[in-house]
Amino acid sequence: MGFNGQPIGTAPVRAHRRPPSWLSEAVVYQIYPATFADSDGDGIGDLRGVRDHLDHLDWLGVDTLWLSPCFASPFGDGGYDVSDYLTVAPRYGSNEDADALIEAARARGMRIMLDLVPGHTSHQHPWFQAAVQDPDDHRYIWSDRVASPVRGWIPNHAARGGYYLANFYPIQPALNFGYARPDPAEPWRQPVDAAGPRANRAALREIMGHWFDRGVSGFRVDMAASLVKDDPGFVETGRLWGEMREWIDREHPGRILLSEWGDPKTAVPAGFHADFFLHFTGPALRSLWDNGTGSQGPWADGRPCYFDPDGRGSMSTFLEAWREADAAIDGTGHVALPTANHDFSRLACGPRTRDMVAPAFAFLLTWPSVPVVYYGDEIGMRYVPGVPDKEGSQLDSEARQGSRTPMQWDGSAGAGFSEAAEDRFYLPLDPDGDRPDVAAARADEGSLLHHVRRLIALRRQTPALGTGGTVRVLHQDYPFVYLRGDRHLVVVNGRREPATAPWPATGSAPRALAAHGVEVTGSDIRAAGFSYGVYELAPDAAVPA
Ligand code: NOJ
Repeated sequence: MGFNGQPIGTAPVRAHRRPPSWLSEAVVYQIYPATFADSDGDGIGDLRGVRDHLDHLDWLGVDTLWLSPCFASPFGDGGYDVSDYLTVAPRYGSNEDADALIEAARARGMRIMLDLVPGHTSHQHPWFQAAVQDPDDHRYIWSDRVASPVRGWIPNHAARGGYYLANFYPIQPALNFGYARPDPAEPWRQPVDAAGPRANRAALREIMGHWFDRGVSGFRVDMAASLVKDDPGFVETGRLWGEMREWIDREHPGRILLSEWGDPKTAVPAGFHADFFLHFTGPALRSLWDNGTGSQGPWADGRPCYFDPDGRGSMSTFLEAWREADAAIDGTGHVALPTANHDFSRLACGPRTRDMVAPAFAFLLTWPSVPVVYYGDEIGMRYVPGVPDKEGSQLDSEARQGSRTPMQWDGSAGAGFSEAAEDRFYLPLDPDGDRPDVAAARADEGSLLHHVRRLIALRRQTPALGTGGTVRVLHQDYPFVYLRGDRHLVVVNGRREPATAPWPATGSAPRALAAHGVEVTGSDIRAAGFSYGVYELAPDAAVPA
């Protein structure tokens, strides 16, 4: 089931153009604006703070920054409840600060992506404030009774009365993009081409166009599968996004949409340039680096994952989903693979500590998906248990705030995040006395940060390790061994125990491009615990089919 409770489906397949080359080559970095860097001392991160750290991000080698929502909002769901899509939230700065960030990024060859929340607004958005009074307003979905299915219908206490449909929390009324199966007996089930849905589709184009014109390179699209209701197989939702893709390719070529759908084999053929494997749809991502520790991080499912210190996982679940998605996408877009995000646990979570996660980065940065690094994961910031709710972060039993704690920049009391007194910080810092920070990690060539930087540089210098080209699995599980193209070998061991695999190649030994605990000797690959190696095959070497 998807995040919004809809079953996973198959949207219509169209022949889309190939995605822009910059996306195919991108290493994306997600920033949670409230906790990245505070430039004005109010304890909340801001756009100027992001700008102040661009040199560091450039040094790291990431080239595309995706910012979680930074728009005006009452912050009932961390900004995923937008009250004005065209204006930066005052806490984060101004539209001019956004312009300055986009320009400063551009000057370094970096791109900015924002977060589009198309399925719902804040209940404080002027559209909704008008709709609660006016029975002829159809921007949202209204019923005069609690309709079926009952979940999500919220009573309206203003003049219009009745009930509106929420898309997520009750403060997030669903925008009306119509129902795939309209029914005159249930008048809230409007067709997708009714006036309200048409106005909302036009509004999405206006919002995107506004930010594209300011220099934004694309959007991550929140709950992308949630727009058209009761849409078996996502046929109408897919049609909507297919139209948006055609509009972007025509009017704003080179801009992209990266969906939070969680099912790339459906989302990319529908129209997205890329879609994530995610924790809440299908087992692929969790089979890689969910900790299986239940209470330790959001959406942990208790099943072993491949990057499990005890080595109880397997790559088979991921590979099956990968092959299916790759075949369905057929070159028209990409699978995006996140280290984590603001909704689920970080790589360093529960029993997996920061000294164990370098092999996960080696896999992420040599696999033909688009890598997305969640801020702080590159230094091994951990998921912090026991952090209190902040602005809707606690979602039932899921403590999302543990993945949203302030970025740790240095060893000072406020970790270089903010000059404010610590009790004014948006969320508390990780209290661990041994917490990693950027300054210390930069000074230590052996740190996780340096591993990640070297691996990013290697990916960018070596097209064969990127999204194009083939992958051939030589040994599944521990160690995981694969060839990229026919000249590059990758070895990853995600567990504590050493592991060996046969090396079937003839010819001279491969040349290590980045190796940490792996040896390729004669006919054997020997991988220490938590090791990785990336190699170039010798010119005379051949790997039998
Ligand atoms: C998904 C976002 O990632 C999450 O943080 C948010 O709460 C919901 N969508 C609702 O917009």
